[in-house]
Amino acid sequence: MLRISVIGTGYLGATHAAGMAELGFEVLGVDNDPAKAAALAAGRVPFHEPELPELLAGHVHSGRLRFGTSLVEAARFADIHFLCVGTPPGRNGAADLSQLYSALEGLVPHLTRNCLIVGKSTVPVGTAEALTARIAELAPQGISVDLAWNPEFLREGHAVFDTLHPNRLVFGVTTPDAEWALRQVYSTPIADGSPVVVTNLPTAELIKVSANAFLATKISFINAMAELCELTGADVTLLADALGHDDRIGRKFLGAGLGYGGGCLPKDIRALIARAGELGAGEAVEFLRDVDTVNQRRRERVVRDTLNLVRATGNARPRVGILGAAFKPLSDDVRDSPALDVAKRLHSAGVEVSVYDPAATNPARAVAPQLIYTATAAAALHEADVVLHLTEWSEFRDLDPVFLRTVARGGVIIDARNTLDPEPWLAAGWDFRAFGRLVERRTTPSLAFPLPDSVPVQPNPASEPARALVTPSPLTRLRSRVRRTA
Ligand SMILES: NC(=O)c1ccc[n+]([C@@H]2O[C@H](COP(=O)([O-])OP(=O)(O)OC[C@H]3O[C@@H](n4cnc5c(N)ncnc54)[C@H](O)[C@@H]3O)[C@@H](O)[C@H]2O)c1
Repeated sequence: MLRISVIGTGYLGATHAAGMAELGFEVLGVDNDPAKAAALAAGRVPFHEPELPELLAGHVHSGRLRFGTSLVEAARFADIHFLCVGTPPGRNGAADLSQLYSALEGLVPHLTRNCLIVGKSTVPVGTAEALTARIAELAPQGISVDLAWNPEFLREGHAVFDTLHPNRLVFGVTTPDAEWALRQVYSTPIADGSPVVVTNLPTAELIKVSANAFLATKISFINAMAELCELTGADVTLLADALGHDDRIGRKFLGAGLGYGGGCLPKDIRALIARAGELGAGEAVEFLRDVDTVNQRRRERVVRDTLNLVRATGNARPRVGILGAAFKPLSDDVRDSPALDVAKRLHSAGVEVSVYDPAATNPARAVAPQLIYTATAAAALHEADVVLHLTEWSEFRDLDPVFLRTVARGGVIIDARNTLDPEPWLAAGWDFRAFGRLVERRTTPSLAFPLPDSVPVQPNPASEPARALVTPSPLTRLRSRVRRTA
């Protein structure tokens, strides 16, 4: 049986290590953060990821999965070494590859047998070639080391499922032996139907960054359309539904709102721009700068509108209650979180900001201690002049707007994720605002006397919960309770 090491056990590596154990391998996870390694060795996951605690603890207790801090031990232990260290943004947005180099420098000189090193971190195209040269310098004499690239596509919040059932496997290889070894590692998901794409190293590297660049582009596209919708009285959620019915487009990643964030999309798109510039192909990806700009503009917009609203109250100590801190639901990851970015900017502008997030309080407090964190949504909204819905946790859709209206001081909520149903909030007396979307009380279309200037449409059960039952003409729009942020 192949023995596996996983080097770097953060969000990606801890999940990958547990997944490899679940697939039947003996696994050693190595991290240079002793506290993280100790927590994992005790069977505790130091971040929020559904299903991972059970999976990881089960294999730690069975003895199939171990964690430590020694790359020397990993070098002696494993036949295949997965590199899962971070590639954070460095100068000018280019990826900082120092974690990769330091991992190799700690590992390769201590290898005692021929092995395969597999990169899973997201890297600029050309990195694997440079690492191959470095490995050749570091490898002990007589030891043959192969390098492959196997980029990871897991989604935080669904990481366990995605690791065990990858929607595709990309094997960037230079030898048949490397492909054979990767097919052994992933034999179970391959047998279950995961497609395999075998490529050279640069293609594998580019597949990952171009996938993220495409997803970011899709989000910024719909946010750009949201800006047009606001100027014209169109509704971006219905527009996205209609676009999504075209299977060449698809509805996923067409959620207009506060835009993308997290530890991957923002850094990967900037690293791609930087790498393209180094290659002399900056113009080819110039549009990605606009994608980034549109995304940043969403955050600025929420901050500007919120400041206008709180200043209008005349309160000397305005207060904003924020729902969400994580960059997305089902995760406690606050890296480049749009929600936390907005919260911090409001605080810098003199607003008292209280935040509730079901999972991300501790990571958020670690990077933004100046904010107030609460144990419940209601506590965050206590005496708030304005409420912001910034991370689309499903539990926020179940909040009681009637009760919350008695808790908050002001009655304005901005749904910056376009995932709340405006109806109960409006009914409870809230001034409900959203971006690019019509917000109005539902009316029951009368079949006997349809409004002459309206077109009754059937609600789409597959689409977002909040829906205008009547597509209003400009005239009905004037009559309806339309609320948009100023
Ligand atoms: N998080 C995701 O959802 C995801 C998905 C796909 C790809 N990726 C990519 O995977 C990589 C890792 O991402 P992450 O989110 O897990 O980052 P992370 O920061 O959570 O984890 C990186 C880990 O590597 C450890 N580390 C750094 N240098 C080390 C060394 N020399 N030896 C041992 N350990 C070392 C760090 O202590 C940390 O625990 C990045 O390139 C990222 O772009 C992440």
